[in-house]
Amino acid sequence: MRKDIGFIGLGKMGSVMAPLFIEAGHKLTVYNRSVEKTEPLRRMDALVAETPSEVSKNSDLIFTMLSDDNAVESIFLSDKGLLSGDVTDRLFIDMSTIMPKTTSSIANEIKKKSGAFIDAPVSGTVAPAAKGELLIFCGGNTQDITKAKPYLNILGRRVIHAGKTGSGSLLKLVVNLPLAIYWQALAESVLLGKSGGLSDEMMLDAIADSSAALAVLKMKIPIMMGEDMPVAFDMKSMVKDLSVILNTAKEMGINIPTTQSSFEVYSEAIKQERFMHEDAVKIIDYMKGK
Ligand SMILES: NC(=O)c1ccc[n+]([C@@H]2O[C@H](COP(=O)([O-])OP(=O)(O)OC[C@H]3O[C@@H](n4cnc5c(N)ncnc54)[C@H](OP(=O)(O)O)[C@@H]3O)[C@@H](O)[C@H]2O)c1
Repeated sequence: MRKDIGFIGLGKMGSVMAPLFIEAGHKLTVYNRSVEKTEPLRRMDALVAETPSEVSKNSDLIFTMLSDDNAVESIFLSDKGLLSGDVTDRLFIDMSTIMPKTTSSIANEIKKKSGAFIDAPVSGTVAPAAKGELLIFCGGNTQDITKAKPYLNILGRRVIHAGKTGSGSLLKLVVNLPLAIYWQALAESVLLGKSGGLSDEMMLDAIADSSAALAVLKMKIPIMMGEDMPVAFDMKSMVKDLSVILNTAKEMGINIPTTQSSFEVYSEAIKQERFMHEDAVKIIDYMKGK
């Protein structure tokens, strides 16, 4: 059955995900805080809402893809936010990387108003997002996830049901933690080699061909070699993710010292403005320049 879809948050990820619903034949209503980012969607015949509450008025399923906890709270809970509008019988699907605690508290508010919520953050960056090939981690009840699945399948190559509300957010943190540390470890190994006279190109080629390579490495080597490519995941987002991971671990009363050290290195790197808008793998340049 065709459903009307709402999509809020047309940043790097949302701007390539939302059009997939139009291509799949759905009626789409979009909202973005900075209105100019809605123009390409308007040209594709999406309806542009002036407030988040207008999006829920027009839609059965509402997707959100926002930067952080504050952005999600503002879109859901502010005066003209999603929860000030029609909530009953709506299914809200938040795909942002945020704290499981925030996810659960928003889900509770929605439940009080007879709506449904699932958290569905993603692994994969802008290129897989544009092709509908994300890996999606879901938290929520089976009935809601079954309802959402045909629409999630438009955005992703696989949907993993992690458990109750908040579990999708937690699984996303579990997946991102080693990735952040990997880039830092790689930066340190390149720094070590470079300090002894090895060339970047040769080192990265050797690492990519060894068991020290992650699948994502080959894709990112051109950026590390200085090729000018659009930023997919910037350092600011990496620091945000690490801080969400650390805050979540703190709440659980567990110690994750390697993540703490990684957070400090990335935070130091973005204090230098030249790195602020660079791809997160640029941590290597930062380490080399130290
Ligand atoms: N980029 C990636 O490769 C990637 C991969 C996997 C997961 N993620 C996660 O996906 C989410 C979105 O990432 P992105 O790269 O698309 O981020 P982005 O390009 O920075 O876009 C963020 C979006 O959130 C909106 N926003 C930020 N603060 C807001 C506020 N206070 N009120 C209302 N709207 C607000 C922005 O609106 P404006 O346009 O007005 O600023 C924009 O639409 C993040 O949680 C990120 O961690 C990203």
